[in-house]
Parts: sequence; C-alpha cells; structure tokens
Amino acid sequence: MNYNKKNVTQVDVKGKKVLLRCDFNVPRDKKTNAITDDKRIRAALPTIQYLLDNGAAVIACSHLGKPEPDFSKWAKKQAEKGKDPASLTEDKWKKSLEELRMEPVAQRLSELLGKPVILADDVAGPDAHAKAAALKPGEIMLLQNTRFEKGETKNDPAFAKELADMAELFVSDAFGTVHRAHATTAGVAAYLPAVSGFLIGKELSVMGKALDDPARPFVAILGGAKVSDKIPVIENLLTKADKIIIGGGMAYTFIKAQGYEVGDSLLEADRVEFAKEMIETAKTKGVELLLPVDTVVAKEFDANAESKTVPSSEIPAGWQGLDIGEKTRELFAKALEGAGTVVWNGPMGVFEFDKFAEGTRAVARAVANSGAVSIIGGGDSAAAVEQLGFADKITHISTGGGASLEFLEGKALPGVVCLQDA
Ligand code: 3PG
Repeated sequence: MNYNKKNVTQVDVKGKKVLLRCDFNVPRDKKTNAITDDKRIRAALPTIQYLLDNGAAVIACSHLGKPEPDFSKWAKKQAEKGKDPASLTEDKWKKSLEELRMEPVAQRLSELLGKPVILADDVAGPDAHAKAAALKPGEIMLLQNTRFEKGETKNDPAFAKELADMAELFVSDAFGTVHRAHATTAGVAAYLPAVSGFLIGKELSVMGKALDDPARPFVAILGGAKVSDKIPVIENLLTKADKIIIGGGMAYTFIKAQGYEVGDSLLEADRVEFAKEMIETAKTKGVELLLPVDTVVAKEFDANAESKTVPSSEIPAGWQGLDIGEKTRELFAKALEGAGTVVWNGPMGVFEFDKFAEGTRAVARAVANSGAVSIIGGGDSAAAVEQLGFADKITHISTGGGASLEFLEGKALPGVVCLQDA
C-alpha cells in the first residue's frame, strides 16, 4: 500500500466546501452519555483549524457507536443477545438511536475550537443540504451520526453521492476508520477529489516507517486476549521484526503449544497448531520469540482474587493466568533495552484490575525508557499506557484500534487507498 498521500496543504481549500471525515467515535458515560475521553476530537483539531484558517467551509462528519438504522434488524440483534422480545419496542429502538446523536460531540468540538459548531439534524438529507449551502468560509458544521443512514456501512454509491453533492473536496482525517469501506470513509472519494488530513498523514508516516524501514532492533510486543485476532499481525511481523514478545491472554495458547498445561487460563485450542508453527517459523527466520516464563495465576476472574506466581510450565488446574510474572517482566524489559523501534499492541494482563496490572506497567515502563521510536496501537494498549501514566514518553499512540491492527497486518486500507497519491 502506498502511504504517500496528497495532504490538505497540497490542494487549494480557499472558498471551498470541504467534507471532512473525522473519527469522533468517543467513549461516553453509560449513564449520563457525557464524553469521557475527548482525545479523538482533539486529534482532529489541527486539520479543522487549518481548513478554517485557510478559508474553507468545513462540513465535518463521523460515526458514533454502532447504531442500527433498521428496526427489525435491531430487534433481531437484541433478541440474539438474550433480550426479551416483548421488550423490544420501536420506542426503545428510537431511544438507542437518540443516545448516539452527535450533540455532545458538537458541543465539545465547539468548546475546543472556541467557536460555534452548526449541527445538522440529518446526515445528507434536506437539513444538512440547506445548512451546507448556507455555510460560509471559516464556519464549521457537523452532520448527524453517519451510521444513522443504512447507506453508510453498505457503502451505497447513491448515499455517497448525496454527501459529495454538499462539498467540493473530501478530506479524510479519520484514521480510526480507514479499515472500513464505508460511504464516508471511502465511497465519497469516487465523487470528490480526496486528500488526507494531518492526523492520517502522521499515523501513516510513523507506522509506515516502522514497518518498512524501522530503526533496528525492531521489537514487536503483542498481547491482548485472543490469538485469533492477531494471526495476520504475527505473520506479518515475523517477516519484519527482530524480536517478538508475546504476553496477555493470547500467551496461554503459545504456552500450551510448548507442551504445558494452562489450567483455566484463556486457551484457543484450535490455534495451538498455529502457535506451534509460529514458534518454528520464528526459529527458521532467526526472529527471537519471547514467551512468559512465569505467570500470575488467580482462583477466579476478579479484581481481588486470591493469586500467586508460578512458572508458566506449572500452571495448576483450577487456576487462571491473569498477568505475566516478575521474571517475565525482567526478561521482557531486558529484551527492550537498546531497541531502535518498538511496536506494541495488546496489554500483558488484566490491567483493568490493579492487582494484575504490574506486567503491563513494567512493559510500559521499559518501552518508555528504551529510547526507541515507540508506537502503541490504539484500543486497549493505548488505554493501558494512558491509565498507567506513560503516555507522554511514547513517540506515537495511534488513534486507531482496529485500523492500526490492520495496518500492522500489512493490509491495504480502503480509507487510505481511496486518497490521491502525493
Ligand atoms: C474505532 O473505535 O476503532 C473506530 O471508530 C471504528 O469503529 P467501528 O469498529 O465501530 O467501525
């Protein structure tokens, strides 16, 4: 995939209506619906400010959560989740959509920009079109949640055209959604000249360099719950990294592949063969593959569960691994000394429980102190690094969860491919 995309400074934006795709999919409080982390909104500000300062009229858009715009599909999904079918009324469905309206985002964006943000009542309907037509250079409006329209996730050309008709230029700055081939992430590029914003530009250049021309040694750290989520990443990184460190829930499948029992730990029995193959491939390719040598095991999955540290080869029946042990923390920290580039995706243990956050904390500290170009894939690992207080020592924390993972897999990302080459 060519990462070298034309950016917003390389086109004339003055006097133009610009459709700007952002990733304003921000976490919200379950009870109050208030935004609990506005990092993604802040990350979009440089591009928005640039456009406004250079005489563009900005029509911003984003999805928020996963609304289901079709009532019967919504009811079916809820029933599958075990909800009582009698409780699945149209009113409830409408309420689920209400909660995902863009008002809180518009308000936060307005506070951060220090200027009004006009909010459309629909996505590409009469209200959005009227407000877009009246929008003046230096003004910004926000469309309603793009996933309120069925055409968004279907990448419907007719819907993409309705969006494109409001604008003269498409700027994508939604790195978190570039792995989605949706109407607002890729489809509109068929109808408008399409360039990147500063955030996508930064994400692509930092992560692209790490994959294609890394300062060595290049160490990849992979964690998180499931091996199955990380198979293509492991395969791709085995062709690029000098060392791969594996921790977190996925490590137990590798420990099993080494021939040991893992008690009640997370295990993907159907991935044990894959794990064996990866251990062998690493040997053949001369990639150092590091697995936990000791494990903090607990009686149950609970913040205060009784726990102890055991060798990874001796996880007792009835116990489950929730963190890497002390020897492993030292081993992993040593492996990170002198690294040129570190890419990290996935925590080392159940860091949400303080008692089982030590492994993730030790690795975060080692990454922060390594002096390497350090890149954290979004999602849980980004949350861990922030929660544990190491964020300011990291070179780049990606705003993309799924997107950064697919990037590390070496996949062509539809939201990047659709942009004009530089
Ligand atoms: C994210 O939160 O990773 C992005 O906003 C993409 O969201 P999605 O997984 O709902 O497409």
